[in-house]
This record gives sequence, structure tokens and C-alpha cells, in this order.
Amino acid sequence: MKSVVAKIALAIIAAVAMMVPCEAFAMPWSWDMFKQPNHRAQKEEAPPQPEGTVPVTGRPYFAKDRAGAVKLKNPFIADKASIETGRAKYATYCATCHGETGKGDGIVGQKYVAPTDLTTEYVQKKPDGDIFFTITNGGLAIMPSYGDSVQTDDRWHIINFIKNALSK
Ligand code: HEC
Repeated sequence: MKSVVAKIALAIIAAVAMMVPCEAFAMPWSWDMFKQPNHRAQKEEAPPQPEGTVPVTGRPYFAKDRAGAVKLKNPFIADKASIETGRAKYATYCATCHGETGKGDGIVGQKYVAPTDLTTEYVQKKPDGDIFFTITNGGLAIMPSYGDSVQTDDRWHIINFIKNALSK
């Protein structure tokens, strides 16, 4: 009987000992990651922006609102090169909803809120700057903004494509 009590007492002591916090012995690999070449904030010039990316901060200023954007001029004439670039970018960013033909029958467009038909006079007569504003900031109701994903120049090429290839 005595030995049973002793065993229980020992077990309790062992359990309590395991619960006492003590410093964990860290292996060297736990701080290895701190010692590597890295950029420290404010210590040196920021690395250049990689080509083909859209900056999230310090976005170039275009216009305050849609009314201001309407005055923007498309810097690209609608030549073959611009329209073809626009076609490729449209296929990537817009066709999912607006459809290959612009009529709003893209695979997502069919399930989503019906996208505006881009071949209509309503869109075709819009100033380029207005469509630029839509791509940059989103539609009138629910279309998401593509200012973070479509390069500035490509937005203008897409507009050249919409107005010169989709209308016909
Ligand atoms: C996720 C689906 C979706 C994608 C992708 C999308 N749109 Fe839209 N778009 C819509 C919907 C829905 C509307 C109608 C509701 C609204 O205006 O928000 C619309 C409306 C528009 C309008 C009319 C806005 C107005 O003034 O009435 C234009 C122009 C337009 N989209 C162009 C584009 C272009 C260019 C792209 C590609 C860069 C694009 N959209 C990508 C869903 C989309």
C-alpha cells in the first residue's frame, strides 16, 4: 500500500515538473533567417520597380472623378499595333465578362450581373477618358476596378480595340 502511495506521489511530482515553464533551447536554425542579405527600410535606395508590374502605392494621378477623366486624351492613335495589343489585353482582362464579341456573354458575364454591351452606341459614343475611368476605377454599379492589374498604356489600347474592332 505504501509503495502505491509513493508511486502516485512521484507521478504527481513528475507531472508538475513538466508543467513548470523553462527556457526552450533554440537551435541555430531558428535565428539563421535573420542573418541574410536583405533591404532595411530607409537604409538604402528602394530597388527599381520590376518591369510589367503596376505600383499599388504612388499611383500616377489621372483625374479626380469621371467628369475630369472625360477630358483625358488617348495618347495612342488607333493603328493596327495598338488595336492588336488592345485585343490581347481585352481577351485577358475583359472577355471573361464582356465576351469575345463585347456583347456581355462572357463565361463569367452569364452568371454575374449582365455586363454592358460594349458594341452599343451607348459605349461606342463614350469619350475615351470615360472608358479609361471605368477600367481604372470600376463601372457605374458593380464592375470591379482594374487599375491594379491593367497597365496604364494597355487601358488605352483596350479602348482603341473596343472602338475600332468591336463595333464592326
Ligand atoms: C467581372 C466582370 C467584368 C469584367 C472582368 C469587366 N467588366 Fe466591364 N462591366 C461589367 C458589368 C457587370 C458592367 C455593368 C455594371 C457597371 O457599370 O458596373 C460593366 C460595365 C462596363 C462599361 C460601361 C460602364 C458605363 O459607363 O456604363 C464599360 C465601358 C466596361 N464595362 C468596360 C470594361 C473593360 C474595358 C474591361 C476590361 C478591362 C471590363 N469592362 C471588365 C463587368 C465586368
